[in-house]
Amino acid sequence: MKIAVFVSGRGSNLHAILSSSEEKKNIEVSAVFGDKIDCPAFDIARRYSIPTFSLGNKEGCVNYTELSGVLSKFKIGFIVLAGFLKLIPKEVVLNFDKRIINIHPALLPSFGGKGMYGINVHKAVYESSAKISGVTVHFVDASYDTGKIIAQRCVDISDVRSPEEIAERVLKIEHQILPYVVGKFAENKVRIVNDRVVILD
Ligand code: GRF
Repeated sequence: MKIAVFVSGRGSNLHAILSSSEEKKNIEVSAVFGDKIDCPAFDIARRYSIPTFSLGNKEGCVNYTELSGVLSKFKIGFIVLAGFLKLIPKEVVLNFDKRIINIHPALLPSFGGKGMYGINVHKAVYESSAKISGVTVHFVDASYDTGKIIAQRCVDISDVRSPEEIAERVLKIEHQILPYVVGKFAENKVRIVNDRVVILD
């Protein structure tokens, strides 16, 4: 399965996928996209000889209107959003129905939606005094964080003293759940049954 990963900057989830796909031969990250001219995530991609593309209107960037063409040129069959902060063009979301997923660092539908990214999420969780947080992997639809939930994993935060501590605990489980879910798609083991998403063993 040829995958495109859309990153924000740090790239730790990209690295988790790349490290896991070294064992799983049926996953190939064929392109990495970001909305910055350069970022640490692109350095990770380059270490694996994966082409990187900056999206935007600046010189040397791929315009969003050209995104579909680049995806088909690289025969991309699946898209993973791992920190990408912009909305994906509707045309791409429609072309990749049930083949584009996002990872969100909280238990959706709580603590999601526009503006809920990075430390903002963990600040909102911390201030709510919630005793658990976690990770959600979900299908992408035309708005932020509202697609059907595919997988979740929670973590105890009853003893945390800061939003940063929550971020650290959640990131650790992100690096487990995302490669797991991508692997299940690569094995064609994700189904929709009675309007719910089921992952087969
Ligand atoms: C992760 O926390 C992910 O949940 C969110 O953006 C962050 C990306 O981190 N969508 P990284 O760039 O993968 O380290």
